[in-house]
Amino acid sequence: MKNIFSGIQPTGSVTLGNYIGAMRQFVDLQHDYHCYFCIVDQHAITMPQDRLELRKNIRSLAALYLAIGIDPNKATIFIQSEVPAHAQAGWIMQCISYIGELERMTQFKDKSSGREAVSSGLLTYPPLMAADILLYKTDVVPVGDDQKQHIELTRDLAERFNKKHGEIFTIPEIRTPEVGARIMSLQEPTKKMSKSDPNLKSFITLLDDPKQIEKKIKSAVTDSEGIVKYNVENKPGISNLISIYSIFTGESIDNLEKKYEGKGYGDFKSDLAKVVVDTIKPIQDRYYELIDSKELDDILDRGAEVANRDANKMIQKMMNAMGLGRKR
Ligand code: AQP
Repeated sequence: MKNIFSGIQPTGSVTLGNYIGAMRQFVDLQHDYHCYFCIVDQHAITMPQDRLELRKNIRSLAALYLAIGIDPNKATIFIQSEVPAHAQAGWIMQCISYIGELERMTQFKDKSSGREAVSSGLLTYPPLMAADILLYKTDVVPVGDDQKQHIELTRDLAERFNKKHGEIFTIPEIRTPEVGARIMSLQEPTKKMSKSDPNLKSFITLLDDPKQIEKKIKSAVTDSEGIVKYNVENKPGISNLISIYSIFTGESIDNLEKKYEGKGYGDFKSDLAKVVVDTIKPIQDRYYELIDSKELDDILDRGAEVANRDANKMIQKMMNAMGLGRKR
């Protein structure tokens, strides 16, 4: 079986963007791959976090991994900071990355822009992400569109390491979904939906209640034309909403355009709110059963054990390849 690794940052509540772009794929992939799904809390602290919020978000994300349908008997679910090899391997990958290539990453440029104090961790986020992936001999990384540049860099770093220190890393392939690889903000539809966006109306989370969902969809920015037509360039707002509708119902975009011909955005938005509520209701039900359970802790303990076992094998290989420590 080939290996899969993917991670999500506990930087807020999981959005429809994270779910559609990344997590939804995990559920299908777990049957055909050996999967590691990580809560990347060390990535989260590259931006300022409140201690209690971070703790809450870590647990919440773990419960959501399970609530969407990931089977802990098939996939390993674990918390990054509970596997020290990530930080160790992250340091090694930093030492083979160049400052220039890290400064060129769009995520770094976006997140550092306009900030007075930018942590050096934000700059070295991609080598830590490379370490996460490479530790598990990962063949495939399922992510949304925004992570393409980081996966390209991971491949470059792995090749650079292999060339200099011996062929120990598998070169991973990226996998993005055909539709929904970039779900857009509800308030600025030319910008991607993000869980840490300060404008709470810009995203829907998997834990929003029906009233919040309806309100957010009703206030989603569209255009003044009032025609339900998919055209990303000229009508980004309504096109984003059509994509979400189509992904959750399986109805084609052509069909949806026909169905809402002659009707305004009001009808379309009310129906979409129902679709979103119905889709996430079973996830929420399962989430609330799990969130305070011992079962969740047991699964995370088991996940940490498996991840530590597997990651320690690779970190040892990396250290030997570079001449760090003593040979074991
Ligand atoms: N808008 C999106 N559409 C599709 N996929 C998305 N992803 C994120 N936003 C969208 C995918 O979700 C996975 C987890 O992302 P992450 O938490 O590691 O970091 P991110 O990409 O920076 O996501 P956010 O929500 O924007 O977090 P913050 O606000 O903390 O930066 C990845 O596979 C990502 O591609």
